[in-house]
Amino acid sequence: MEKTFLMIKPDGVGRGLIGEIVKRIENKGIKIVGAKLMTVSEELAKTHYGEHSEKPFFGELVDFITSGPVFAMVLEGENVVEIGRTLVGKTNPAESTPGTIRGDFGMTVGKNIIHGSDSVASAEKEIALWFKEEEILSYDLVTSAWVY
Ligand code: PPS
Repeated sequence: MEKTFLMIKPDGVGRGLIGEIVKRIENKGIKIVGAKLMTVSEELAKTHYGEHSEKPFFGELVDFITSGPVFAMVLEGENVVEIGRTLVGKTNPAESTPGTIRGDFGMTVGKNIIHGSDSVASAEKEIALWFKEEEILSYDLVTSAWVY
């Protein structure tokens, strides 16, 4: 089953949006198989955004992502990389449609609430970078077993 990596950025955590975003993920029917609130080291930030190291905004991006806690998640489901990107919305919140996370809550490109892997290959790389194997669980979403 496909997996993807989503990370609520310091602005999303700071605005108290973890619950709202997790609700959208669960409502969609996506399974959360890993999740943690954590601070990001400069080393992790620079590795994660390594492909942008030559961009003029790189320093700002690293400073921002290390400025406060983030909520990192591994999600599992059919076609979940693409579906995750659709839930997240476009990088520039001005172009993100209402109904997407960035479209509903984001205002600027730099501080756009959430990151989502943009391909299956990046998802694999990012999951391995952010999560240890034992932090990713395998379980069934069987709601009927928990209705009393
Ligand atoms: S690019 O240039 O098209 O490859 O970049 P893009 O995929 O649009 O964005 C990559 C990540 O960089 C962030 N970004 C910025 N941060 C600060 N300032 C500016 N101007 C800026 N432009 C882009 C953007 O939010 C992306 O972060 P993630 O976490 O991948 O969404």
